[in-house]
Amino acid sequence: MNYTLQTEKLLNTHSDCICLPLFINNKSDSNKANSQVLCSLGQQIDEACENMLSKAIESYSISSEAGKAFMLSVDAQSFSRILLVGFGETEKADSEVLKKAIGALNTQIKDTNIKSLCIAFSDIPETLKAENLIRDAITTIAGNHYNFDQFKSKKAPLSPLTEIVFHTTEDQAPSSEAKISLASAQVKGINTAKDLGNLPGNVCTPSYLAEQAQKLADDSKNFSVKILDEAELETLNMGAFLSVSKGSTEPGKLIILEYKGGKKDEAPHMLVGKGITFDSGGISLKPGASMDEMKYDMCGAASVLGTMTAIAELQPKLNIVSIIASAENMPAGNASKPGDIVTSSSGITIEIMNTDAEGRLVLCDALSYAEQYKPASVVDIATLTGACIVALGHCTSAVMGNNDPLVNELLDAGKQASDKAWQLPIWDDYQEQIDSPFADIQNIGGKGAGSITAACFLSRFTKAYPWAHLDIAGTAWVSGGKDKGATGRPVPLLLQYLLNKEAS
Ligand code: BES
Ligand code: MN
Ligand code: ZN
Repeated sequence: MNYTLQTEKLLNTHSDCICLPLFINNKSDSNKANSQVLCSLGQQIDEACENMLSKAIESYSISSEAGKAFMLSVDAQSFSRILLVGFGETEKADSEVLKKAIGALNTQIKDTNIKSLCIAFSDIPETLKAENLIRDAITTIAGNHYNFDQFKSKKAPLSPLTEIVFHTTEDQAPSSEAKISLASAQVKGINTAKDLGNLPGNVCTPSYLAEQAQKLADDSKNFSVKILDEAELETLNMGAFLSVSKGSTEPGKLIILEYKGGKKDEAPHMLVGKGITFDSGGISLKPGASMDEMKYDMCGAASVLGTMTAIAELQPKLNIVSIIASAENMPAGNASKPGDIVTSSSGITIEIMNTDAEGRLVLCDALSYAEQYKPASVVDIATLTGACIVALGHCTSAVMGNNDPLVNELLDAGKQASDKAWQLPIWDDYQEQIDSPFADIQNIGGKGAGSITAACFLSRFTKAYPWAHLDIAGTAWVSGGKDKGATGRPVPLLLQYLLNKEAS
């Protein structure tokens, strides 16, 4: 897909379809309550086409409600269709309205033969920020074009749409240009995360993830990679990580991907991803229904690789170190059993009460490993708890952490990037739920607040630096049904968070 900017007269735009906003204006003349209004660009086109737009709006009763859109065939020299996109009342237009409008636009262009699209929304209210529009539009439309058909004998037909032109004013042009670069890097990152998530567990193993990290490092400027195998993890005394990986014949890997775009001695920001390439539950075996979806238990790792893919493209002036803790959680004769006690690399002993709470076991050793980098911040990303879906459903990721400014930065980044998250408290009151009668701590917190007690577990290993944890169990993939598949979240949030760090 090609994305370009256009600041010339809209009438001269060569495109199969021009998208124009339509508003409700309650304040217009009193006898025409709720009149539908075109923006100034729309009015220019209307005049040039013998009022065909205003006539159509009236005779077809075209709605300007947010979430509605209407396609018109027009007889103009340089374009053949106009898509009128509802934005509702100008005063009420906010990011949710923008999302609805882009969703409606997206639905209308689906399954058409439109090859090039011109989005002429430069007149939308300032509150919607034209640049946000660009990112949201590119991400949504590209999301619609994503296909995962590498295992199908018959491939999905290629979409005819190959070009999106954004019509902007001269002063919007520089920032719009930057947003296009950001959005296309973000799309690459999201698609990388989706592909890795959707790959089956027999292909996407810990070794496969290591190969992908290696490839990214080989192909990108300022990257290097280190891959630690089980023997090396043994010498680092990572007993918690190994207690998970030992139950599978697929060898576990700790993958460290470094990006150096900042000053030599500048403390890095770190991302740590849970990369369980299949979570059977281990000896605490999961029930069979939907167990296939536990191939998605590496979506934290996928979001890290996706974000790093976008970083490779954007080359921000930052130092970033990513760690992926990757293993398969399987039941075997030598797998860990409930009641087993293991020692993590930090020295903290852990009673494994449930082998299905494996994510925190691989993560805790990775989080201790992070300490040597003296990081400015560490964010871990994990499909950690089913309880997170009970608490927040599938729209919102959970954030917890030991540093409120860091948590707030993540919440803000999520809002900015339309990839929302919400904070859950990890107050000390919850910590006693992971007390063990026989070891320092146990790996489950008993009844209630499952996402919080999982974070409490991680918090025992992250005292040396500002740390936050994203539980993406509900947001990383769409479960079951025809839309089943990885979402690529929270790549937008993570990318925005890191780019905000560069700007500050
Ligand atoms: N990967 C799962 C969490 C999960 C489950 C994510 C379903 C998305 C959908 C994790 O390893 C797990 O099994 N957690 C257990 C923890 C429990 C044993 C304390 C859970 O959530 O049931
Ligand atoms: Mn599990
Ligand atoms: Zn898991």
